[in-house]
Amino acid sequence: MTAELRFPPRFRWGTATSAYQVEGATRADGRGESVWDRFCRVPGAIENGDTGDDACDHYARAGEDVALMASLGLTAYRLSLAWPRLFPAGDGRIEPRGLAHYDRLIDRLLAHGITPLVTLYHWDLPQALQDRGGWRDRATARRFADYAAACFDAFGDRVRDWVTVNEPWIVGVLGHQLGLHAPGERDLAGSVRAMHHLLLGHGLAASALRATGRPGARAGVAYSLYPHTPAGDTAADRAAAHASDGYVNRWFLDPVHGRGYPADMREHWERAVGPLDFVADGDERAIAAGSDFIGVNYYTRRIVAAGRGDGPWPWRVERGRPGVPRTDLNWEIVPDDLTALLLRLHRAHPGVPLLVTENGAAFDDAPGPDGGVRDARRVAFLHGHLAAVHRAIAAGAPVEGYYHWSFLDNFEWAMGYRPRFGLVHVDRDTRRRTVKESGRWYGAVARAGAIPARPPGGAG
Ligand code: FCB
Repeated sequence: MTAELRFPPRFRWGTATSAYQVEGATRADGRGESVWDRFCRVPGAIENGDTGDDACDHYARAGEDVALMASLGLTAYRLSLAWPRLFPAGDGRIEPRGLAHYDRLIDRLLAHGITPLVTLYHWDLPQALQDRGGWRDRATARRFADYAAACFDAFGDRVRDWVTVNEPWIVGVLGHQLGLHAPGERDLAGSVRAMHHLLLGHGLAASALRATGRPGARAGVAYSLYPHTPAGDTAADRAAAHASDGYVNRWFLDPVHGRGYPADMREHWERAVGPLDFVADGDERAIAAGSDFIGVNYYTRRIVAAGRGDGPWPWRVERGRPGVPRTDLNWEIVPDDLTALLLRLHRAHPGVPLLVTENGAAFDDAPGPDGGVRDARRVAFLHGHLAAVHRAIAAGAPVEGYYHWSFLDNFEWAMGYRPRFGLVHVDRDTRRRTVKESGRWYGAVARAGAIPARPPGGAG
Protein backbone atom coordinates (compact mmCIF):
# COMPACT_ATOMS: atom_id res chain seq x y z
CA MET A 1 0.00 0.00 0.00
CA THR A 2 1.30 3.44 -0.83
CA ALA A 3 1.91 5.80 2.10
CA GLU A 4 -0.84 8.27 2.80
CA LEU A 5 -1.59 11.34 4.87
CA ARG A 6 -4.71 10.71 6.90
CA PHE A 7 -7.08 13.52 7.94
CA PRO A 8 -9.13 13.64 11.16
CA PRO A 9 -12.21 11.40 11.03
CA ARG A 10 -14.85 14.14 10.82
CA PHE A 11 -12.90 16.34 8.43
CA ARG A 12 -15.29 18.00 5.95
CA TRP A 13 -14.55 17.42 2.31
CA GLY A 14 -16.42 20.10 0.47
CA THR A 15 -16.70 22.40 -2.45
CA ALA A 16 -17.91 26.00 -2.56
CA THR A 17 -20.07 28.07 -4.89
CA SER A 18 -22.09 31.26 -4.60
CA ALA A 19 -25.61 32.01 -5.72
CA TYR A 20 -24.97 34.65 -8.36
CA GLN A 21 -22.11 32.66 -9.86
CA VAL A 22 -24.06 29.47 -10.46
CA GLU A 23 -27.82 29.86 -10.15
CA GLY A 24 -28.93 31.81 -13.22
CA ALA A 25 -32.75 32.16 -13.24
CA THR A 26 -32.32 35.74 -12.11
CA ARG A 27 -35.91 36.58 -12.94
CA ALA A 28 -37.53 33.37 -11.74
CA ASP A 29 -39.92 32.95 -8.84
CA GLY A 30 -40.13 36.58 -7.80
CA ARG A 31 -36.39 37.18 -7.32
CA GLY A 32 -35.55 40.86 -7.03
CA GLU A 33 -32.73 42.61 -8.86
CA SER A 34 -29.27 42.47 -7.29
CA VAL A 35 -26.36 44.87 -7.66
CA TRP A 36 -24.66 42.29 -9.87
CA ASP A 37 -27.61 42.12 -12.28
CA ARG A 38 -27.32 45.88 -12.60
CA PHE A 39 -23.50 45.97 -12.80
CA CYS A 40 -23.42 43.34 -15.55
CA ARG A 41 -25.43 45.78 -17.70
CA VAL A 42 -22.73 48.47 -17.52
CA PRO A 43 -20.94 48.42 -20.88
CA GLY A 44 -17.41 47.09 -20.49
CA ALA A 45 -17.83 46.10 -16.84
CA ILE A 46 -17.65 42.36 -17.51
CA GLU A 47 -15.37 40.62 -19.98
CA ASN A 48 -17.10 39.56 -23.14
CA GLY A 49 -20.33 41.20 -21.98
CA ASP A 50 -21.06 38.10 -19.87
CA THR A 51 -23.74 38.16 -17.16
CA GLY A 52 -25.01 35.80 -14.47
CA ASP A 53 -28.47 35.70 -16.08
CA ASP A 54 -28.14 32.01 -16.88
CA ALA A 55 -24.85 31.08 -15.20
CA CYS A 56 -24.77 27.29 -14.66
CA ASP A 57 -28.55 26.99 -14.47
CA HIS A 58 -27.99 25.56 -11.00
CA TYR A 59 -31.33 26.97 -9.86
CA ALA A 60 -33.12 24.46 -12.06
CA ARG A 61 -30.48 21.73 -11.84
CA ALA A 62 -29.83 21.80 -8.10
CA GLY A 63 -31.12 18.25 -7.67
CA GLU A 64 -28.86 16.87 -10.37
CA ASP A 65 -25.87 18.83 -9.03
CA VAL A 66 -26.34 17.62 -5.47
CA ALA A 67 -26.64 14.04 -6.69
CA LEU A 68 -23.41 14.50 -8.66
CA MET A 69 -21.64 15.86 -5.58
CA ALA A 70 -22.80 12.89 -3.56
CA SER A 71 -21.79 10.43 -6.27
CA LEU A 72 -18.25 11.77 -6.06
CA GLY A 73 -18.17 11.12 -2.31
CA LEU A 74 -18.15 14.71 -1.04
CA THR A 75 -19.47 15.32 2.47
CA ALA A 76 -19.82 19.10 2.66
CA TYR A 77 -20.99 22.00 0.51
CA ARG A 78 -20.67 25.74 0.95
CA LEU A 79 -23.50 27.51 -0.86
CA SER A 80 -24.83 31.04 -0.62
CA LEU A 81 -28.39 32.28 -0.37
CA ALA A 82 -29.38 35.03 -2.77
CA TRP A 83 -30.73 37.80 -0.55
CA PRO A 84 -32.91 39.16 -3.42
CA ARG A 85 -34.55 35.74 -3.84
CA LEU A 86 -35.72 35.86 -0.24
CA PHE A 87 -36.34 39.60 0.06
CA PRO A 88 -36.80 40.97 -3.46
CA ALA A 89 -36.83 44.54 -2.11
CA GLY A 90 -34.10 43.89 0.47
CA ASP A 91 -36.47 43.99 3.42
CA GLY A 92 -40.18 43.80 4.09
CA ARG A 93 -41.99 41.03 2.27
CA ILE A 94 -40.36 37.59 2.19
CA GLU A 95 -40.72 35.62 -1.06
CA PRO A 96 -42.09 32.13 -0.30
CA ARG A 97 -40.85 30.68 -3.59
CA GLY A 98 -37.29 31.68 -2.67
CA LEU A 99 -37.70 30.04 0.72
CA ALA A 100 -39.10 26.89 -0.89
CA HIS A 101 -36.14 26.67 -3.27
CA TYR A 102 -33.52 26.77 -0.53
CA ASP A 103 -35.62 24.49 1.67
CA ARG A 104 -35.51 21.86 -1.05
CA LEU A 105 -31.81 22.37 -1.70
CA ILE A 106 -30.89 22.02 1.98
CA ASP A 107 -33.10 18.95 2.36
CA ARG A 108 -31.51 17.37 -0.70
CA LEU A 109 -28.03 17.95 0.65
CA LEU A 110 -28.91 16.40 3.98
CA ALA A 111 -30.62 13.46 2.31
CA HIS A 112 -27.33 12.79 0.50
CA GLY A 113 -25.26 13.06 3.67
CA ILE A 114 -23.77 16.42 2.65
CA THR A 115 -23.42 19.01 5.42
CA PRO A 116 -24.34 22.52 4.27
CA LEU A 117 -22.30 25.59 5.20
CA VAL A 118 -24.46 28.54 4.24
CA THR A 119 -23.19 31.98 3.27
CA LEU A 120 -25.66 34.79 3.79
CA TYR A 121 -23.87 37.47 1.80
CA HIS A 122 -21.80 36.55 -1.23
CA TRP A 123 -22.04 39.98 -2.90
CA ASP A 124 -25.53 39.98 -4.42
CA LEU A 125 -27.02 42.89 -2.48
CA PRO A 126 -30.63 43.65 -3.42
CA GLN A 127 -30.48 46.63 -5.81
CA ALA A 128 -33.28 48.26 -3.82
CA LEU A 129 -30.90 48.53 -0.87
CA GLN A 130 -28.12 49.88 -3.08
CA ASP A 131 -30.59 52.56 -4.17
CA ARG A 132 -30.92 53.48 -0.49
CA GLY A 133 -27.15 53.81 -0.01
CA GLY A 134 -25.94 50.21 -0.01
CA TRP A 135 -23.14 49.24 2.35
CA ARG A 136 -22.02 52.84 2.72
CA ASP A 137 -25.22 53.38 4.66
CA ARG A 138 -25.25 52.13 8.24
CA ALA A 139 -28.88 51.02 7.96
CA THR A 140 -27.81 48.24 5.56
CA ALA A 141 -26.04 46.48 8.44
CA ARG A 142 -29.30 46.37 10.41
CA ARG A 143 -31.27 45.18 7.37
CA PHE A 144 -28.67 42.47 6.82
CA ALA A 145 -29.13 41.29 10.40
CA ASP A 146 -32.90 41.16 9.87
CA TYR A 147 -32.44 39.13 6.69
CA ALA A 148 -30.01 36.86 8.56
CA ALA A 149 -32.52 36.36 11.38
CA ALA A 150 -35.19 35.35 8.85
CA CYS A 151 -32.76 32.77 7.41
CA PHE A 152 -31.91 31.39 10.86
CA ASP A 153 -35.62 31.07 11.45
CA ALA A 154 -36.31 29.32 8.15
CA PHE A 155 -33.27 27.03 7.90
CA GLY A 156 -31.67 27.00 11.36
CA ASP A 157 -33.29 23.68 12.22
CA ARG A 158 -31.09 22.07 9.55
CA VAL A 159 -28.13 24.41 9.06
CA ARG A 160 -25.64 24.71 11.86
CA ASP A 161 -22.80 26.73 10.33
CA TRP A 162 -23.23 30.14 8.76
CA VAL A 163 -20.79 32.36 6.93
CA THR A 164 -22.25 35.81 7.42
CA VAL A 165 -20.18 37.85 4.97
CA ASN A 166 -17.85 36.72 2.21
CA GLU A 167 -14.61 38.69 1.78
CA PRO A 168 -15.38 42.14 3.17
CA TRP A 169 -12.00 43.41 1.92
CA ILE A 170 -12.79 42.47 -1.68
CA VAL A 171 -16.23 44.08 -1.45
CA GLY A 172 -14.60 47.25 -0.14
CA VAL A 173 -11.68 47.41 -2.54
CA LEU A 174 -13.05 46.00 -5.80
CA GLY A 175 -16.67 47.08 -5.29
CA HIS A 176 -16.32 50.50 -3.69
CA GLN A 177 -12.76 51.70 -4.21
CA LEU A 178 -11.73 50.55 -7.69
CA GLY A 179 -15.16 50.11 -9.27
CA LEU A 180 -14.26 46.70 -10.72
CA HIS A 181 -17.07 44.81 -8.96
CA ALA A 182 -20.66 45.76 -8.19
CA PRO A 183 -21.78 48.33 -7.23
CA GLY A 184 -18.94 49.85 -9.26
CA GLU A 185 -18.14 52.75 -6.92
CA ARG A 186 -14.82 54.60 -6.90
CA ASP A 187 -14.92 56.18 -3.50
CA LEU A 188 -12.01 55.56 -1.13
CA ALA A 189 -13.75 57.03 1.91
CA GLY A 190 -16.95 55.21 1.00
CA SER A 191 -15.05 51.94 0.76
CA VAL A 192 -13.88 52.09 4.36
CA ARG A 193 -17.41 52.95 5.48
CA ALA A 194 -18.75 50.00 3.47
CA MET A 195 -16.23 47.62 5.03
CA HIS A 196 -17.14 48.86 8.50
CA HIS A 197 -20.82 48.30 7.86
CA LEU A 198 -20.15 44.81 6.49
CA LEU A 199 -18.34 43.95 9.72
CA LEU A 200 -21.09 45.54 11.77
CA GLY A 201 -23.62 43.49 9.80
CA HIS A 202 -21.62 40.38 10.62
CA GLY A 203 -21.64 41.22 14.35
CA LEU A 204 -25.36 41.97 14.41
CA ALA A 205 -26.11 38.76 12.52
CA ALA A 206 -23.88 36.72 14.84
CA SER A 207 -25.79 38.18 17.82
CA ALA A 208 -29.07 37.29 16.16
CA LEU A 209 -27.82 33.73 15.77
CA ARG A 210 -26.91 33.59 19.47
CA ALA A 211 -30.36 34.93 20.31
CA THR A 212 -31.99 31.95 18.61
CA GLY A 213 -30.52 29.81 21.40
CA ARG A 214 -29.95 26.97 18.97
CA PRO A 215 -27.32 24.69 20.42
CA GLY A 216 -24.27 24.27 18.24
CA ALA A 217 -25.14 27.10 15.83
CA ARG A 218 -22.02 28.89 14.64
CA ALA A 219 -21.26 32.05 12.66
CA GLY A 220 -18.08 33.34 11.06
CA VAL A 221 -16.72 35.54 8.30
CA ALA A 222 -15.00 34.10 5.21
CA TYR A 223 -12.01 36.41 4.78
CA SER A 224 -9.87 36.87 1.69
CA LEU A 225 -6.57 36.22 3.44
CA TYR A 226 -3.30 36.92 1.68
CA PRO A 227 -0.09 35.87 3.41
CA HIS A 228 2.51 38.59 2.95
CA THR A 229 6.09 38.17 1.79
CA PRO A 230 8.44 41.16 2.07
CA ALA A 231 10.01 41.77 -1.36
CA GLY A 232 13.50 42.00 0.08
CA ASP A 233 15.17 41.11 3.33
CA THR A 234 15.21 44.70 4.58
CA ALA A 235 13.58 46.37 7.57
CA ALA A 236 11.74 48.73 5.19
CA ASP A 237 10.22 45.90 3.15
CA ARG A 238 9.29 43.99 6.28
CA ALA A 239 7.54 47.08 7.65
CA ALA A 240 5.76 47.58 4.33
CA ALA A 241 4.57 43.97 4.34
CA HIS A 242 3.32 44.33 7.91
CA ALA A 243 1.46 47.52 7.00
CA SER A 244 -0.15 45.95 3.94
CA ASP A 245 -1.10 42.96 6.07
CA GLY A 246 -2.97 45.46 8.23
CA TYR A 247 -4.89 46.68 5.19
CA VAL A 248 -5.78 43.24 3.84
CA ASN A 249 -5.97 40.91 6.83
CA ARG A 250 -5.73 42.46 10.31
CA TRP A 251 -8.29 45.20 9.59
CA PHE A 252 -10.90 42.43 9.56
CA LEU A 253 -9.53 39.68 11.78
CA ASP A 254 -8.68 41.93 14.73
CA PRO A 255 -12.06 43.59 15.29
CA VAL A 256 -14.07 40.42 14.62
CA HIS A 257 -11.98 38.51 17.12
CA GLY A 258 -12.26 41.08 19.85
CA ARG A 259 -9.21 43.31 19.48
CA GLY A 260 -10.78 46.34 17.87
CA TYR A 261 -9.40 47.91 14.71
CA PRO A 262 -5.58 47.75 14.59
CA ALA A 263 -4.08 51.14 15.49
CA ASP A 264 -1.46 51.19 12.71
CA MET A 265 -4.01 50.68 9.93
CA ARG A 266 -6.43 53.07 11.55
CA GLU A 267 -3.73 55.74 11.21
CA HIS A 268 -3.24 54.89 7.52
CA TRP A 269 -6.96 55.16 6.91
CA GLU A 270 -7.30 58.42 8.82
CA ARG A 271 -4.43 59.93 6.86
CA ALA A 272 -6.09 58.81 3.62
CA VAL A 273 -9.75 59.70 4.27
CA GLY A 274 -9.98 61.70 7.52
CA PRO A 275 -11.59 60.71 10.82
CA LEU A 276 -13.47 57.41 10.85
CA ASP A 277 -16.43 59.09 12.50
CA PHE A 278 -18.82 56.40 11.24
CA VAL A 279 -17.30 53.99 13.77
CA ALA A 280 -19.77 54.68 16.59
CA ASP A 281 -19.25 53.94 20.26
CA GLY A 282 -19.99 50.30 20.85
CA ASP A 283 -19.49 49.24 17.21
CA GLU A 284 -16.29 47.37 17.89
CA ARG A 285 -18.05 45.49 20.67
CA ALA A 286 -20.93 44.70 18.31
CA ILE A 287 -18.53 43.47 15.61
CA ALA A 288 -16.89 41.15 18.13
CA ALA A 289 -20.24 39.76 19.25
CA GLY A 290 -19.26 36.21 18.60
CA SER A 291 -17.38 34.56 15.81
CA ASP A 292 -17.26 30.86 16.19
CA PHE A 293 -14.84 30.01 13.40
CA ILE A 294 -12.51 31.66 10.92
CA GLY A 295 -13.33 31.09 7.25
CA VAL A 296 -10.11 31.11 5.23
CA ASN A 297 -10.30 31.92 1.54
CA TYR A 298 -6.76 31.37 0.30
CA TYR A 299 -5.57 31.63 -3.28
CA THR A 300 -2.13 33.17 -3.37
CA ARG A 301 0.37 35.38 -1.56
CA ARG A 302 1.15 39.09 -1.75
CA ILE A 303 4.74 40.26 -2.19
CA VAL A 304 5.16 43.78 -0.85
CA ALA A 305 7.96 46.33 -1.02
CA ALA A 306 8.43 49.72 0.63
CA GLY A 307 7.55 52.64 -1.62
CA ARG A 308 4.52 54.02 -3.33
CA GLY A 309 2.17 51.97 -5.47
CA ASP A 310 -1.11 52.91 -7.07
CA GLY A 311 -3.03 53.72 -3.91
CA PRO A 312 -2.42 56.19 -1.10
CA TRP A 313 -0.38 53.62 0.83
CA PRO A 314 3.34 53.48 1.62
CA TRP A 315 3.80 50.08 0.02
CA ARG A 316 3.96 48.55 -3.42
CA VAL A 317 2.66 45.14 -4.48
CA GLU A 318 5.00 43.16 -6.73
CA ARG A 319 3.92 40.78 -9.44
CA GLY A 320 5.51 37.60 -8.11
CA ARG A 321 8.73 35.74 -8.56
CA PRO A 322 10.17 33.99 -11.57
CA GLY A 323 10.16 30.21 -11.33
CA VAL A 324 7.09 29.99 -9.10
CA PRO A 325 4.32 27.97 -10.80
CA ARG A 326 1.18 29.91 -11.66
CA THR A 327 -2.44 29.34 -12.52
CA ASP A 328 -3.95 30.51 -15.81
CA LEU A 329 -4.81 33.79 -14.04
CA ASN A 330 -1.11 34.22 -13.32
CA TRP A 331 -1.63 33.74 -9.58
CA GLU A 332 1.42 32.20 -7.90
CA ILE A 333 0.83 28.71 -6.52
CA VAL A 334 2.30 28.68 -3.00
CA PRO A 335 0.86 25.88 -0.84
CA ASP A 336 3.44 26.37 1.92
CA ASP A 337 1.94 29.77 2.61
CA LEU A 338 -1.39 28.11 3.38
CA THR A 339 0.29 26.09 6.15
CA ALA A 340 1.91 29.24 7.50
CA LEU A 341 -1.38 31.16 7.32
CA LEU A 342 -3.33 28.49 9.20
CA LEU A 343 -0.65 28.32 11.89
CA ARG A 344 -0.57 32.09 12.21
CA LEU A 345 -4.36 32.16 12.70
CA HIS A 346 -4.10 29.39 15.25
CA ARG A 347 -1.44 31.30 17.19
CA ALA A 348 -3.21 34.66 16.95
CA HIS A 349 -6.68 33.30 17.78
CA PRO A 350 -6.11 30.15 19.81
CA GLY A 351 -9.04 27.83 20.14
CA VAL A 352 -10.99 29.27 17.20
CA PRO A 353 -11.83 26.52 14.68
CA LEU A 354 -10.58 27.10 11.14
CA LEU A 355 -12.37 26.21 7.93
CA VAL A 356 -10.72 26.58 4.54
CA THR A 357 -13.83 28.09 2.97
CA GLU A 358 -12.23 28.60 -0.48
CA ASN A 359 -9.09 27.47 -2.24
CA GLY A 360 -8.71 26.69 -5.89
CA ALA A 361 -7.19 27.56 -9.24
CA ALA A 362 -8.21 28.61 -12.74
CA PHE A 363 -6.98 26.10 -15.31
CA ASP A 364 -8.59 26.15 -18.71
CA ASP A 365 -8.78 22.44 -19.52
CA ALA A 366 -11.40 21.41 -22.04
CA PRO A 367 -12.83 17.99 -22.81
CA GLY A 368 -10.53 15.89 -25.01
CA PRO A 369 -11.60 13.81 -28.01
CA ASP A 370 -12.95 11.06 -25.72
CA GLY A 371 -14.98 13.61 -23.75
CA GLY A 372 -12.81 13.42 -20.61
CA VAL A 373 -11.25 16.50 -18.99
CA ARG A 374 -7.67 15.77 -17.87
CA ASP A 375 -6.72 18.65 -15.58
CA ALA A 376 -3.53 17.27 -14.10
CA ARG A 377 -2.49 20.73 -12.91
CA ARG A 378 -5.62 20.99 -10.72
CA VAL A 379 -4.95 17.54 -9.28
CA ALA A 380 -1.42 18.66 -8.40
CA PHE A 381 -2.78 21.93 -6.97
CA LEU A 382 -5.26 20.03 -4.81
CA HIS A 383 -2.67 17.61 -3.58
CA GLY A 384 -0.25 20.42 -2.73
CA HIS A 385 -2.83 22.43 -0.80
CA LEU A 386 -4.35 19.46 1.01
CA ALA A 387 -0.86 18.39 2.06
CA ALA A 388 -0.38 21.96 3.30
CA VAL A 389 -3.58 21.71 5.36
CA HIS A 390 -2.41 18.36 6.69
CA ARG A 391 0.89 19.88 7.87
CA ALA A 392 -1.02 22.65 9.65
CA ILE A 393 -3.25 20.12 11.40
CA ALA A 394 -0.23 18.04 12.39
CA ALA A 395 1.27 21.19 13.93
CA GLY A 396 -1.88 21.77 15.99
CA ALA A 397 -4.12 24.05 13.90
CA PRO A 398 -7.80 23.12 14.39
CA VAL A 399 -8.76 22.90 10.71
CA GLU A 400 -12.18 21.26 10.41
CA GLY A 401 -12.68 21.19 6.68
CA TYR A 402 -11.68 22.18 3.17
CA TYR A 403 -14.06 23.59 0.56
CA HIS A 404 -12.57 23.62 -2.90
CA TRP A 405 -13.44 26.58 -5.10
CA SER A 406 -15.33 25.52 -7.04
CA PHE A 407 -17.70 22.67 -7.72
CA LEU A 408 -18.63 23.99 -11.17
CA ASP A 409 -16.95 26.22 -13.72
CA ASN A 410 -18.95 29.39 -13.11
CA PHE A 411 -19.38 33.13 -13.52
CA GLU A 412 -16.17 34.67 -12.23
CA TRP A 413 -17.40 38.22 -11.66
CA ALA A 414 -15.65 40.83 -13.81
CA MET A 415 -13.80 38.08 -15.69
CA GLY A 416 -17.05 36.50 -16.83
CA TYR A 417 -16.90 32.84 -17.76
CA ARG A 418 -13.25 32.88 -18.91
CA PRO A 419 -11.59 31.46 -15.80
CA ARG A 420 -12.54 27.87 -15.10
CA PHE A 421 -12.22 26.97 -11.42
CA GLY A 422 -14.49 23.91 -11.36
CA LEU A 423 -13.94 20.29 -10.47
CA VAL A 424 -16.78 19.85 -12.92
CA HIS A 425 -16.58 21.29 -16.43
CA VAL A 426 -19.66 23.18 -17.61
CA ASP A 427 -20.23 23.53 -21.34
CA ARG A 428 -21.05 27.19 -22.01
CA ASP A 429 -23.70 26.41 -24.60
CA THR A 430 -25.43 23.32 -23.29
CA ARG A 431 -24.55 23.64 -19.54
CA ARG A 432 -23.65 19.98 -19.72
CA ARG A 433 -21.60 18.86 -16.70
CA THR A 434 -18.48 16.72 -17.12
CA VAL A 435 -16.59 15.68 -14.02
CA LYS A 436 -12.93 16.51 -14.50
CA GLU A 437 -10.13 14.18 -13.50
CA SER A 438 -9.62 16.46 -10.47
CA GLY A 439 -13.22 15.92 -9.39
CA ARG A 440 -12.77 12.16 -9.41
CA TRP A 441 -9.44 12.45 -7.63
CA TYR A 442 -10.88 14.71 -4.93
CA GLY A 443 -13.91 12.44 -4.50
CA ALA A 444 -11.63 9.44 -3.97
CA VAL A 445 -9.70 11.45 -1.38
CA ALA A 446 -12.93 12.37 0.40
CA ARG A 447 -13.96 8.71 0.50
CA ALA A 448 -10.58 7.59 1.79
CA GLY A 449 -10.19 10.49 4.24
CA ALA A 450 -6.58 10.67 3.15
CA ILE A 451 -4.31 11.88 0.35
CA PRO A 452 -1.35 9.98 -1.06
CA ALA A 453 1.85 11.06 0.68
CA ARG A 454 3.53 11.68 -2.66
CA PRO A 455 2.33 14.15 -5.29
CA PRO A 456 0.28 12.55 -8.07
CA GLY A 457 1.83 11.86 -11.45
CA GLY A 458 5.33 11.84 -9.99
CA ALA A 459 6.48 9.20 -12.44
CA GLY A 460 5.08 10.81 -15.57
C1 FCB B 1 -13.09 34.75 -4.31
C2 FCB B 1 -14.61 34.80 -4.31
C3 FCB B 1 -15.26 33.70 -5.10
C4 FCB B 1 -14.51 33.38 -6.37
C5 FCB B 1 -13.03 33.19 -6.11
C6 FCB B 1 -12.21 32.83 -7.32
O1 FCB B 1 -12.59 36.04 -4.10
O2 FCB B 1 -15.08 34.72 -2.98
O3 FCB B 1 -16.59 34.08 -5.32
O4 FCB B 1 -14.74 34.34 -7.32
O5 FCB B 1 -12.51 34.33 -5.51
